Amino acid sequence: MINDMSANIFRQLKIGSVRLDNNIILAPMAGVTDYPFRLVAKLFGAGLTVCEMINVTAMHFKSRTTPTLIRRSAAEKPYSVQIFGHSVEHFESSVRNIIKNGAADIIDINMGCPAKNVVSSKSGVYLMKDRETARKIITACVRAAAEFDLKEVPITVKIRLGWDKESIIAPDFCKMIEDCGASMVTVHARTYSMQFSGLPLYEHIARCKEAVKIPVIANGDIVSYEKARKVLELTGADGVMIGRAVMGRPWIIGDMLRMDRGLPALDFKIPDVIKLIKIHGRLVDAFYSDNNRVECFRKQLLWYTKGWYGSAQLRESLKTVSSADEIDCVLDKYLESIHHLDLPENRLFTIYENEPKDFRGGKYAVANTAAQ
Ligand SMILES: Cc1cc2nc3c(=O)[nH]c(=O)nc-3n(C[C@H](O)[C@H](O)[C@H](O)COP(=O)(O)O)c2cc1C
Repeated sequence: MINDMSANIFRQLKIGSVRLDNNIILAPMAGVTDYPFRLVAKLFGAGLTVCEMINVTAMHFKSRTTPTLIRRSAAEKPYSVQIFGHSVEHFESSVRNIIKNGAADIIDINMGCPAKNVVSSKSGVYLMKDRETARKIITACVRAAAEFDLKEVPITVKIRLGWDKESIIAPDFCKMIEDCGASMVTVHARTYSMQFSGLPLYEHIARCKEAVKIPVIANGDIVSYEKARKVLELTGADGVMIGRAVMGRPWIIGDMLRMDRGLPALDFKIPDVIKLIKIHGRLVDAFYSDNNRVECFRKQLLWYTKGWYGSAQLRESLKTVSSADEIDCVLDKYLESIHHLDLPENRLFTIYENEPKDFRGGKYAVANTAAQ
């Protein structure tokens, strides 16, 4: 795919004192953007990676799972840890804990998650309804981060537009976030009621951008270079955050960056994706000691292989694999089975021509209780 419309929309971005090489941010996605996946996204050039949201109360009480969720590799720089919760005190202690341990360059506060269990604990997007607590949390986090002289760790916030279409408060909320001392805000252009469906209302991001001086990042259904360009033009935002579009095709980040420089997209075909899955599988194997996590990777294997030629049996086999070696073996067999067919190019090219039909729906969202 040759791109004759390069526009240099991707450029360096400063968040407080932290500089990103480019303004494409990998969205935090619970159950998806773990250490191995984030490394893959970094490989394709993501300007910033963010971990899955971490519960501040769990961190406060030193939960055993938190260090695994937070851990980053040396290649992940800059790196943001996203936290969520309701207790101001737990937010404060978590910020101190993260900075003391050098665990992140940026700390992001989640005020957008609509998952039932999160909202019912007065966290996530609930905080857009409870502005006073939201203000206290951001102020406390900024203050706690400022206690450390040596290293400035900016506090950022991720929000939605508001509760429903009748109560869109994002521009005003952004102003409050800025006044509390936060260094960036990401706006998912949907309300709580919209969950993950319905067309994003990008025009409100333009209003957020007008309301504040700190960088505003646009999020919601940005699935291609053309879409990123349109959204940035429409909103004047300082960057984009990409979520579901990277599921099963993380190279779209690389494609976006290439197309912005007038270069052709990577043109990934099935054999290329197989090579990538093998690398991803090795990272999963190396990172996790327990088998449960290969189980999490299985869902990614199904995203990677969606729409492949004659892949029904392959996908069945991938549902039962339990190690990187087994994954390699199943993929090699599949490749062998399609090799002799001498398929025309377009049958090996699944990525843009064959967009998954249910991509836009809430399917991925309900697959994960922490989804937002
Ligand atoms: C499976 C899943 C998990 C998610 N987990 C988080 C999360 O931990 N923190 C967060 O701020 N947003 C989370 N989100 C929301 C995304 O970051 C993003 O805001 C949303 O998917 C809209 O962007 P998109 O249309 O590019 O996917 C999640 C979304 C999905 C689909």
